Amino acid sequence: MDGIVLLKEDHKTVEKLFKRFEKADESAHTEKREIADQVIAELTTHTWIEEKIFYPAAREAAPDAKDHVLESVEEHHVVLWMLSELKGLDPADERFDAKMSVLMENVRHHVEEEEKEWFPDVRKAMGRNRLKELGEEMEAAKKTAPDEPLAVPSADR
Ligand SMILES: [Fe+2]
Ligand SMILES: [Fe+2]
Repeated sequence: MDGIVLLKEDHKTVEKLFKRFEKADESAHTEKREIADQVIAELTTHTWIEEKIFYPAAREAAPDAKDHVLESVEEHHVVLWMLSELKGLDPADERFDAKMSVLMENVRHHVEEEEKEWFPDVRKAMGRNRLKELGEEMEAAKKTAPDEPLAVPSADR
């Protein structure tokens, strides 16, 4: 699979989870916990493969994307810390929905920038074969990605 297509598929999966969360009843704590856990798993894996594979490859192919990549890494940093807090937060806690809501805002903004502002240039610079190669590499890396948000490199710096 084309690497950018793979990343966009992940974005769609996460957006579906966000929509489910927004539709869930306020008191549906079990359902909200389950959705949040899926969001944590999806985004931890996704940020991991971007930071380990896609972002470095993007910088190499399109040096002009450097500032976008650096800003994206800082956005990951914030998101990963929020994910690690959500892991241990009871959905009945009055801060739970607010934290999910700010997380969703952050992720939606981040995804929009990736898809609209800089992935298109990276696609052009990489070409079809390189994108396919990266897609395969990321598909394989998904299987060994950590499930702990703070294990993703940008969480640490
Ligand atoms: Fe990202
Ligand atoms: Fe992404």
